[in-house]
Amino acid sequence: MQRRLVVTLAILALVATGVTGCKKKSEEQAQPQPPQSTTAAPAAPATPQPAASATATTGEQLFKQHCAACHPNGGNTITPAKTLSKKAMADRNIKSTDDIVKIMRNPGPGMNKFDEGMIPKDDANKIGDYILATFP
Ligand code: HEC
Repeated sequence: MQRRLVVTLAILALVATGVTGCKKKSEEQAQPQPPQSTTAAPAAPATPQPAASATATTGEQLFKQHCAACHPNGGNTITPAKTLSKKAMADRNIKSTDDIVKIMRNPGPGMNKFDEGMIPKDDANKIGDYILATFP
């Protein structure tokens, strides 16, 4: 009887240490996992932005980007008489969006040329509309 007790106690002791040993191992194995979730996270948020900005550009934004350096507020820092005001342009028969686009494609002295590659027709029209609507 006593032997059995000792044997069963010994077995219980072995099982107990074996189990706690296993627990320790599984805890150690569990630790490396968190980095996986952090590497998974950055992939998600990138998607919504890119296409929208290219097509949603307004005439005002395009004007500021391409023209405002020499024509701030519709003025002309290089040839002061040739502003973008409707009246000043009308003196030189620049009366429509098309007329303004023609000048962008074939400008006078001191102004750089904006060809189709730099400012496509749609954007050029937006700029022309903006100028006619903004500088009286
Ligand atoms: C590097 C400076 C510069 C930039 C940038 C520039 N211009 Fe000009 N622009 C001039 C000059 C100088 C003149 C006068 C040219 C002349 O004597 O015919 C002029 C004249 C004009 C005229 C005729 C104005 C008038 O009263 O006769 C229009 C219209 C015009 N620019 C539109 C634009 C537009 C639109 C942009 C942007 C897409 C632009 N310009 C960018 C310098 C510039």
